This record gives sequence, structure tokens and C-alpha cells, in this order.
Amino acid sequence: PTIYVITPTYARLVQKAELTRLSHTFLHVPHLHWIVVEDSPSPTQLVTNFLAMSGLTYTHLHMLTPKDRKLQEGDPHWLKPRGAEQRNEGLRWLREKAAADGGKGLAFDNAVIYFADDDNTYSLQLFEEMRYTKKVSVWPVGLVGAMKFERPVVENGKVVRFHTGWRPNRPFPIDMAGFAVSLNLVLANPEACFDGNAEMGFLESSFLQNLVTMEELQPKADMCTKVLVWHTRTEKPKMKREEALLKQGLGSDPNVEV
Ligand code: UGA
Ligand code: MN
Repeated sequence: PTIYVITPTYARLVQKAELTRLSHTFLHVPHLHWIVVEDSPSPTQLVTNFLAMSGLTYTHLHMLTPKDRKLQEGDPHWLKPRGAEQRNEGLRWLREKAAADGGKGLAFDNAVIYFADDDNTYSLQLFEEMRYTKKVSVWPVGLVGAMKFERPVVENGKVVRFHTGWRPNRPFPIDMAGFAVSLNLVLANPEACFDGNAEMGFLESSFLQNLVTMEELQPKADMCTKVLVWHTRTEKPKMKREEALLKQGLGSDPNVEV
């Protein structure tokens, strides 16, 4: 089955580095189709050229987050959900494609959807774990929620609760990196999407709660005992010297893409 990986991304100094690292992982994964959704009013040159050279099978989309839903300079990073509109745009494209195929193409091979943010770290094994997803499969996520890892707790082959340090009573207290969904399930639930106004920590639940129950979750990664994905976050590079040099007219050549 094909894995459709939906990645929201936005312009910042580390963007090309993030996309480079991600693409080098994905190049090792068979039958992967990368859906890159830029948070921008139109496709950027950087991402357009990057994807063309990537060697991956991809679809390049864009969807600007409305201003009132976007984090402003100085806001704490958790104040508003990030990537919701972009993931929804990816889902819209998949539904449109599947409808055009008349149910024969896209969904035919039991395709799977995974939401891969551009800053996380993904093992190759993870993709083989998720490849055979009937409805929704789940696994641990490392370095998330101010813990070593969060994970679904499995008893007798079923998820019975979640190991998390914060609001365990959320419908699905699980990071975006910790689940995959079958395309067929998404097609059978045409309304399923992410709520861009969701309260902090409820973005994943806003999507999953209308799709599955906890009992239906398929535990992967050795019954959720292995960490195969890490919620790494890239440090924002300091530009103090750059700014000082700029003032003297000695800034780095703006024609060089970083
Ligand atoms: C955590 C989760 O891992 C995210 O999946 C979830 O979207 C987020 O919280 C949330 O609650 O909204 P975190 O590391 O804090 O993640 O979020 P980011 O990695 O900063 O953003 C998630 C994705 O959205 C990234 O792929 C990023 O490139 C993209 N993004 C971020 C945008 O497209 N636009 C933005 O303005 C910011
Ligand atoms: Mn992140």
C-alpha cells in the first residue's frame, strides 16, 4: 500500500534544512507519496525547486493560515494550533483525487495517511509499522509532552489507556506523529478534519474522535513498546552577528539560498 505523508511547512531560516533531512528519510521508504502543504499565499520558489530536485514522488500544495489563527511574534508557541489548515488542504486533495479515480485508483491499494511535521525525526521502521493500517494505528512518540515518551498502553492486544503527563482525559491524548489513518476511513468520513480553533492539545482529538474509538486502535511498534519517532524541535538560529554586519552593509549575500 502507498503511504501518503502530509507535511505542513512554513518559510523560516531552518526550512530548507528541515525539508532536506525529511526528504533523505523518505527517499528510503518504498511507495511513499509526499504531500507538502506550504503555509503561504502561493507556492514559494524555494520549496518548488527543492521538491523538483528531491527525487521523491510528491504533490505541492499551499494554504495560508488566516491571520487570526496564526501565531504572532512574541506569542508562546502553543497558543494556537499549527498546521491545521495545511493538513486539511492535504486531506481535501486526497478526497478530490480519490473521487476523480472513482474509488478504483488511490484507495484501491489500501493507502495510508500519515501527518509528518517537518521538524520531527522518523525511523524507517516506522513506515513499515504503519503500512498495514485498517482504520487507525498508533505507537509511542519520543521526547514529547515534557516526557521521555508518551504512548498508548496495551493490554491483551488492545489499547486501554494512554501514558501521558498532561490531561489524560482528552479523547485522544496522542501527538500528531503517533498515529496513521487509512485513506478508506477518511473517504468514508467526508467531514473528518482538523479544527483550527481547537484548544491546546486537542488538535489530534478534533480529527480522531469522529473516526475511531480507543478500542479500535491498532497498536504497532511491538505493542507500543518501541520508540520509532521523536518529536524533536529545531532551535531557532541566532542572527545577532548577521544583523550587526547588515547594519555595516556587510550582511551575507541575499542571493545565496539557505
Ligand atoms: C505539536 C504537534 O507535534 C504538532 O503536530 C501540532 O500541530 C502542534 O503541536 C499543535 O498543537 O498545533 P510543535 O512542534 O509544537 O508540535 O509544532 P510545529 O512543529 O511548530 O508545527 C507543526 C507543523 O506545522 C510543522 O510541520 C510546521 O512546519 C507547520 N507550521 C507551523 C506551519 O505550517 N505554519 C506555522 O505558522 C507554524
Ligand atoms: Mn514540531
